[in-house]
Amino acid sequence: MIYCDNAATSFPKPPAVAEAMAGHLRAEAVNPGRSGYDLALQAAARIDALRARLGDLFGNPARDPNRTILASGATAALNLAIAGLCPDGGHVVTEATAHNSVLRPLEALRRAGRLEYDVAPCDGLGRVDPDDLARLIRPATRLMVLNHASNVTGAVQDLAAVGRLCREHDLLLVVDAAQTAGVIPIDMAAALVDAVAFTGHKGLLGPTGTGGLVLGPRVEPRPVRWGGTGVRSASLEQPAALPYRLEAGTLNATGCAGLAAGLDWLEQRGAAALAAAERELAAAFRAGCADIPGVRTIGAAGVANAPVAAAVISVTVDGQDPAKVGALLDVEWDIAVRTGLHCAPLVHAYLGTAPAGTVRFSFGPFNTPEQIPRLLEALRAIAGA
Ligand SMILES: Cc1ncc(COP(=O)(O)O)c(C=O)c1O
Repeated sequence: MIYCDNAATSFPKPPAVAEAMAGHLRAEAVNPGRSGYDLALQAAARIDALRARLGDLFGNPARDPNRTILASGATAALNLAIAGLCPDGGHVVTEATAHNSVLRPLEALRRAGRLEYDVAPCDGLGRVDPDDLARLIRPATRLMVLNHASNVTGAVQDLAAVGRLCREHDLLLVVDAAQTAGVIPIDMAAALVDAVAFTGHKGLLGPTGTGGLVLGPRVEPRPVRWGGTGVRSASLEQPAALPYRLEAGTLNATGCAGLAAGLDWLEQRGAAALAAAERELAAAFRAGCADIPGVRTIGAAGVANAPVAAAVISVTVDGQDPAKVGALLDVEWDIAVRTGLHCAPLVHAYLGTAPAGTVRFSFGPFNTPEQIPRLLEALRAIAGA
């Protein structure tokens, strides 16, 4: 199989990820932080080291490991950020490339009468103009939620410009880094980002069920889940201290062991070099698509003047349903892609790809240049070119 669905989750994982998880289960799978015996303390120390590492990865100026909240992924982190940071009656600004992990919590909270929100448009490449975000700011606006890179077009937003805008209006900026964590650097201090929601199972090469929210020094979310923390058990109130305030329940420590191994692997290989290689593959694929009649590439990657893009290329084939193209790629060519709306329902109106969506090819560190001709051959055959 040629796996081109890395934007959904990276695969394969570096072998060290599986080894670390198996080793954890064999030797250290006790509940970190709940008990005082040596192994539990050792497990807790490893989790704390991971928190510190993730905070540093995103340049958190708070430099406090307890401000890395571990969660099951970007979805859990974004739910926490939105419900935990927007006060009742507040207003949120987001934009058209937003994933359902942003749009659905916003809509649910709007229907519950808790907040209002507006969505800024994007251009035909999936880029958002900060002036369009600015136009939506109201006196009640408290929060802006920006998708760092579109999982449909790969377009990367100008974080620094949006960060400045948010500071000018005294808004909190939450960034969805699901597509960029480990691939396109984020410096929270330089870009004035208040919180980064990340996933551990895509660019960071960890297992599914990992991710979290890195909290800068200005943000103090209220809890959105309540439960055991292993500290202050006599109290019926959630402890105020971080990370306990936001981390009820037993952590996915085995997943965290895998995530740490993914980070090690990225560090050893050089995240920047890997990301550059992935973008080169995406650019070669895109260039090849341009020569196939009936195949249209959507969005930013490789387009002149586009900001640096994640290695995601969406295509459509004239007259063919993306779902059918995806099925043919799978069944006849053993090529794994994702088709449809990609959980980002609003962006397609701006890309001209509503309602059926696109066929998305997304590249990771285990894709190779040798695979590109085969992908193009398959598309050529399916397009009847
Ligand atoms: C842009 C974007 N945001 C959020 C998510 C959700 O991430 P997770 O699977 O970690 O919950 C995804 C992944 O599907 C995504 O592409």
